[in-house]
Amino acid sequence: MPAFIETQFPIARLSAEAYKERKANNGQTLTRLGKWWGRKPLILIRASLLGMLMPASIDPKRDREIFLKILTMDDDGVWQRCKGEIPVAAWREAASAEIQKDSFLARGWRRGLTEEEQDSICARIWEALNPLQRKALDDQRRRPVPDRVTFDALPYAQRIAHCERPENIEGPTSTAWADINAHLGTSASSLSDLVAQLGQRTFGHVPRVGDAFCGGGSIPFEAARIGCEAFGSDLNPVAGLLTWASLHLLGGGRVVQEEVMQVQAVVMAEADRQVSEWGIEHNDQGERADAFLYCVEVKPEGCDYFIPLAPSWLVGERTKAVCRWHRVPGSDRLQPEIVVVTPEEVAAYKAGKGATAVDGRVTDPLTGKDWCSIESLRGPQGLRRWSNDDIVPRPDDVFQERLYVIRWVKTVAGADGKPVESRRYAAPNPADLQRETLTLTLLQQRFHAWQAAGFIPSKAIPEQGDETGRLFRERGWTHWHHLFTPRQLLTHGLLAEVSGRIAQSKEAIVGCLLGLGRIANWDSRLCLWMANSANEGGSHVFNSQALNTFLNYSNRPLIKLDTAWPVFNDTVAVSIGRSSRVITSDARDLRHTCDLWVTDPPYADAVNYHELGDFFLAWYDRQLTRAFPEWTPDARAELAVRGDGDDFRRSMVEIYRNLAAHMPDNGMQMVQFTHQDPGVWADLGMILWAAGLKATAAWTISTETEAVGIKKGNYVTGTVCLVLRKRVKPEPGFLDEVYPLVEDEVRRQIASMQALDEGGEPNFNDADYQLAAYAAALKVLTQYATLDGKDVEHEVFAVRDRATKSDFQSVIERAITIACDLLIPRGLESSWRDLSLVERYYLRALDIESRGERRKGMYEELARGFGVTDIRPLLKSDQANGTRMHTPSGLAASGLAPLGAGSSQPVPVRRGRASGAVHPFAASPLRHLLFAIRETTLNDLNPEPGRQYLRDTFGQGYWNRRERFMALLEWLEALGNAHGMTEWTADSEAARILAGRLRNDHA
Ligand SMILES: C[S@@+](CC[C@H](N)C(=O)[O-])C[C@H]1O[C@@H](n2cnc3c(N)ncnc32)[C@H](O)[C@@H]1O
Repeated sequence: MPAFIETQFPIARLSAEAYKERKANNGQTLTRLGKWWGRKPLILIRASLLGMLMPASIDPKRDREIFLKILTMDDDGVWQRCKGEIPVAAWREAASAEIQKDSFLARGWRRGLTEEEQDSICARIWEALNPLQRKALDDQRRRPVPDRVTFDALPYAQRIAHCERPENIEGPTSTAWADINAHLGTSASSLSDLVAQLGQRTFGHVPRVGDAFCGGGSIPFEAARIGCEAFGSDLNPVAGLLTWASLHLLGGGRVVQEEVMQVQAVVMAEADRQVSEWGIEHNDQGERADAFLYCVEVKPEGCDYFIPLAPSWLVGERTKAVCRWHRVPGSDRLQPEIVVVTPEEVAAYKAGKGATAVDGRVTDPLTGKDWCSIESLRGPQGLRRWSNDDIVPRPDDVFQERLYVIRWVKTVAGADGKPVESRRYAAPNPADLQRETLTLTLLQQRFHAWQAAGFIPSKAIPEQGDETGRLFRERGWTHWHHLFTPRQLLTHGLLAEVSGRIAQSKEAIVGCLLGLGRIANWDSRLCLWMANSANEGGSHVFNSQALNTFLNYSNRPLIKLDTAWPVFNDTVAVSIGRSSRVITSDARDLRHTCDLWVTDPPYADAVNYHELGDFFLAWYDRQLTRAFPEWTPDARAELAVRGDGDDFRRSMVEIYRNLAAHMPDNGMQMVQFTHQDPGVWADLGMILWAAGLKATAAWTISTETEAVGIKKGNYVTGTVCLVLRKRVKPEPGFLDEVYPLVEDEVRRQIASMQALDEGGEPNFNDADYQLAAYAAALKVLTQYATLDGKDVEHEVFAVRDRATKSDFQSVIERAITIACDLLIPRGLESSWRDLSLVERYYLRALDIESRGERRKGMYEELARGFGVTDIRPLLKSDQANGTRMHTPSGLAASGLAPLGAGSSQPVPVRRGRASGAVHPFAASPLRHLLFAIRETTLNDLNPEPGRQYLRDTFGQGYWNRRERFMALLEWLEALGNAHGMTEWTADSEAARILAGRLRNDHA
């Protein structure tokens, strides 16, 4: 019996939920534990597991209703989750005086804040409240649409905007459970009951779910949370730590969470006492520092003073503070001055006034002289390599470092007598510089002992990495501690040292380790100072997926680490009862058997996990071994799966073969991967095929908010979920038999998706249909161990040039062609059969454009499906995320060729001249019809010239084609009404008028 997910999946609703979860930023359940890249949304995992466990019945409609009920994504469930939003006034009321002043006006948000900024301010307010205050704030929620009928009529994404996420409510109501149990023959009253009963039925026990690439832990965590036995493994111990923490700290329930909170609070208090006693963050005016800003400075040849470098000297947009530089007689160091300026000056500074690092060049702040490029300062040999004992640059290093601003804070009485925090920026004075020296001395006194004990990093940075190589080149840094200022090493090391004394239980040790990881991310030489008004604070190292060096950066004093340090601000209602296990193994070596493997491999990934993970591992070091003596405290980069070449394929086949060997015959796998190029789907399919698995379904869920950390190319927007089973019997296949089977399967798959799409909100978009075609082909192909005697593994690794396709690829491509042909834009059903492939391509492309698709990859993929090799003449724009087709007027007269012209010679045409070879579109009837529309537009909507053109061009054939032309014109007419298609307004109107003229045309 197939599982629910092998027959259908509620893609549109799930995508909306996944998007909502992603947008919650810090409100995501696992992100507080620490940074990991590419965590999968928990709702996607929950739905995937339940979809694999729930059997499909003969009633797909009812299956879908029940499945949505289990997830509280049915209409009743959504209403139940809709508690409404907390009004802005209530947020304001709950905020600290500082946040009130910075972020709110009397009646609402300060102008100019983006939705994301508002979310993050709300998160800050929430984090600062105690449980009682949170409840009081939460009680102020009001349903925005109090009427159920009106609410149900809203599109799903709008409805859930006002809802709790499914993971944050109790689960289905008792009424919903009655329906679920009646349909499934179960007797559950909670998700874990249901999971246990379904598991018992299929596997004879509670289902065991494993993830061989567990990363940040989403898959094992969610599996355990819904009642499965969870197993997680990752090569990287940092990932192991995060996964363990998700299961045992978060999943440990309130008692464990409270213990961790309490230990971390004691550690922070002890560190604060010590820092205050040292006197490195306080001045003699009763103020404490809450930000230190450092910059790099250089002395170009011929210049007799050091030039401090920054791309902007705006210190605070809101406070209107800027930094100016002055010459001091007798010194080669310039003196900073912090001044408050007019709004116009702020704007000028924001735009780069006074900047000393412009387009990679050093500009003199006093004379404006362009000295040289920063790169040239590094010299032909590159920079001096720092040694382990270097904590600050040596006097003769090219890049020096200096403190240039301190932000001081003090609590004073406000106008109403209530205490408020007063802040000011100042350039460092001699006493501040003495405190800098003291800080360095204090660190030097402890440096070696702390390194030996593992309280501060001592590991060398691998030089040969994509990310890490940059640190050597750009700064000469060779050890992980070089990424931190002396202040950072002293305060972070102090927290580590005190933790080592106070944290005794494994849970408390892990809590403190995660705290150290979090503050390393919040406070390092790689944390940019963000002067914009929404922030005026330091960024995080991993705002992107890279280790980027900056010319000026921020350093947080201890009081500014108080939100980063605690892993929990409050207890979270998660408790994991079942046993779970986390290990740090190479996926090739796993020996653990699971009923369901759900994995998200590092496929052709832009993320260098092993390099980025080392940033944290450097801080965990010996403390990690104290908590997990059985783990290898090393990222083992040489074993990491990466890239997309042959080595990658070989590793993947080996890993998935190993996983298939460690699952029962009725077990299932899901492989999730996020990649923008649909071409790689087939490649992955081949790998899994070679590993002894057969595909049974594939779905795409939109899981990413736009373009976060993606450097180039199309945005990654979808996660493909391939569902697989073990190929138990190795049967041979024969291509001539396989082709018709593939065709039937593709037709069946598309028809069943179209049936689901009808009526309600659309579930699938074009990418989904194409993917389904791949999956349908894979479904047929992967049942066989060989095709025409050829072994699939051999085919995967066969050396071919780019142009040569294997038989396997040809079958898959044929599937896409069939799918493309089956997907007829609504309204073109009667004309479709008579159109050539290139005409179909143009119309399908317009169809997806009118539905908002702008990704170039989709237009290219579509072209592959229709066998169109050159789409350039049809595109108005080929930008990665702004692809658009030409309108009839945009096509103008260029590329118009006589009907049926196909020679490679340029062909003169009536009102235009084609250059080069004739493009098949240029000579197509549709192209001439588009020309007639353009004629109508050009003649102020007089249809006569257009009609005449058609009659001249088609001669007697005109009368046969007239009906078809009218149908096409009516379809094109509707385009102008689609959202975002204003470019079509004039041509659509022309199409309407021309259609009318053709209707009334008589011989
Ligand atoms: C895309 S991430 C997984 C993210 C995870 N699903 C989550 O939600 O956080 C891929 C993971 O594979 C791990 N990895 C790479 N090579 C591996 C290998 N040979 N064995 C096990 N894990 C490996 C990486 O460390 C990384 O954590």
